[in-house]
Amino acid sequence: MPEQLSVAVIGAGMAGRSHAAAYRMVNTVFGAGLPPIRLAAIADANTVLAEDAARRYGYDKAVSSWEAVAEDPDIDAVSIVVGNALHRPISEALVAAGKHVLCEKPLAGSMEDGRAMVALEKDADVVTAVGYTYRRNPAIAAIRDHVRNGELGEMTLFNGRYWCDYACDARGPLTWRFKGGLGSGALGDVGAHVIDIGEYICGPIVSASGAAVSIQISKRPLPLGAVVGHGAAPVSKEEGEVENEDTAMFSARFESGLTASFSVSRTAFGMPNGLGFDVYGLSGRASFDFHRPAEYLFDDTQPEARTRGVRQVIVGPQMPYFRGGYPMEAPGVGIGNQEDFIYQCRAFLDQIVGPPDPLPPNASFADALHTMEIIQAVVRSSQSDGAAVAVGSVTSAAPVDAIAPVNPAAPA
Ligand SMILES: NC(=O)c1ccc[n+]([C@@H]2O[C@H](COP(=O)([O-])OP(=O)(O)OC[C@H]3O[C@@H](n4cnc5c(N)ncnc54)[C@H](O)[C@@H]3O)[C@@H](O)[C@H]2O)c1
Repeated sequence: MPEQLSVAVIGAGMAGRSHAAAYRMVNTVFGAGLPPIRLAAIADANTVLAEDAARRYGYDKAVSSWEAVAEDPDIDAVSIVVGNALHRPISEALVAAGKHVLCEKPLAGSMEDGRAMVALEKDADVVTAVGYTYRRNPAIAAIRDHVRNGELGEMTLFNGRYWCDYACDARGPLTWRFKGGLGSGALGDVGAHVIDIGEYICGPIVSASGAAVSIQISKRPLPLGAVVGHGAAPVSKEEGEVENEDTAMFSARFESGLTASFSVSRTAFGMPNGLGFDVYGLSGRASFDFHRPAEYLFDDTQPEARTRGVRQVIVGPQMPYFRGGYPMEAPGVGIGNQEDFIYQCRAFLDQIVGPPDPLPPNASFADALHTMEIIQAVVRSSQSDGAAVAVGSVTSAAPVDAIAPVNPAAPA
């Protein structure tokens, strides 16, 4: 075991701060299997943001470029938490420098970049991992256990959704989230999570069909300064094109034969972070909604039971991650988004160190490329009148102008 592990976070924006905060906590949860963690550096081109995050979360220094992290021989492990188009060049530099990489989802800004990252992973002798953070939610992990243990009986339906409203305001700035080909909008940004959850619970998806993909707001004003996450910012009178989808709906088929329906949106008013799903079998069901992250609904009562019906199950130490992973190990005290990031970072460091009782590993680059392939199948289905498209069969990216905006004359 190394005497110490030095970690850095590249990106001090919305999710970068969650990674920065998580590394502070990784040694307070689960077994004492890790060496001391040195919080080495936070990098962000926005130096004010980097310095603020380094001070808040107790990192040794703030730097203004990701290259400074790649070149620092004293850093062992790095989270990449910047816009998707930067994931490939940063991963390549970090792996070449012998550093372990935890890259945020979606894997990359393009299929070409994603494939290059998988090739990089094949030859790498460092850990290469991807942050599908919601896998670490105790309720979601508990539902997976119900399904995998056969407690719902033969599976009949998965319905997954990720509805957000961060793009409802047509005066919201044109950030990196609105650039890139079809599939890199709502599908890549939030769809990647719910597709991963579908597969985490029900196994691999093999095809997509019946897809409809649309843009509601086709132009947005250029930002005049830095924007953090979905935040507002002063904007210019000049506008630029939105290059990717606001909403998408599709059906999918799992390898098991189970069918699923998915819908994703970033223009669903009133839904700040509406990740949810329902799974049904012949003798049970479970439902989850991230707006209530510390509970799920469950029913395995039999038709003849007088008290047949769904019940609310409150997250507690009987569930994965909660026991040993939460300071107050008492049922019903609640759990949220930050814990998921702590467990994700802990799993990453467990992958590096190999302690006796590691957390389940993170997704690999190859796993995350598979998600991108599902998304490309969805886009291709939407361009082929909803035809079924096999995952992995789409070799070239979909043309950006392939869908007409629903509202080309969005108010300026
Ligand atoms: N796992 C999750 O739940 C989750 C949640 C949100 C975002 N994400 C992912 O995290 C990544 C970042 O998203 P975000 O919302 O935090 O973005 P963001 O726009 O809030 O932050 C990105 C930061 O990168 C910085 N940056 C840009 N270019 C840079 C460069 N060349 N060098 C250094 N810094 C640079 C920006 O200044 C900005 O502060 C994306 O891949 C996104 O999909 C994951």
